[in-house]
Amino acid sequence: MKTKTNLAILASGNGSNFEAIIKAVKKGFLNLDYCILVTDKRNSFVRERAKKHQIKDIFVDPKKFKSKKDFDKKLIQILNKEKIKIVVLAGYMRILSPLFLNRFKNKILNIHPSLLPSFAGKNAIEDAYNYGVKVTGVTVHFVTQKVDQGPIIAQKTVFIKSNMELKELEKEIHKTEHKLYPKLLKKFLENKIEVKGRHVKVT
Ligand code: GRF
Repeated sequence: MKTKTNLAILASGNGSNFEAIIKAVKKGFLNLDYCILVTDKRNSFVRERAKKHQIKDIFVDPKKFKSKKDFDKKLIQILNKEKIKIVVLAGYMRILSPLFLNRFKNKILNIHPSLLPSFAGKNAIEDAYNYGVKVTGVTVHFVTQKVDQGPIIAQKTVFIKSNMELKELEKEIHKTEHKLYPKLLKKFLENKIEVKGRHVKVT
């Protein structure tokens, strides 16, 4: 049975995953009551995408806060006011404080462009490419205090063919992300994802 909910997407950059999720909502693939974008970057392209799709976008300026905790307090305030139940990170470049993580425990999803735990960190696609692995991919996981180490919900492989250029691999990874993230988000919205310690059951 489908249940409706309110979702916040946190993003800092290009926003292609944000847009993939919004398109899935518009197509009726994802059943949401309400979705907002929250960003920490005034000039991020994701804001243009939000405008295009008429999604409320809230910019919170990190410069206005003394600490990461104060910034996250403001985020919590905003998300509480908007009655947000689920938080989706889509290229959000800030590390969330324990305060935020506790407020949305097991309700924060992230997508990472490698097969974790391999190639954690900011340059995962390039790192995998430069390492010379033949298989890399995409991971959707819960967000916990340890960056890129939360329980894994799903992974999808991408093969690195010989003579493949980095640009080509990036394209392939993003294409895979745009399919996988809405699919898993749908499962989550339908309460079909259960986490027990490090183990995640998807039904
Ligand atoms: C994606 O590759 C995602 O895996 C990572 O950040 C990137 C964001 O891309 N966490 P976009 O802003 O969604 O285009």
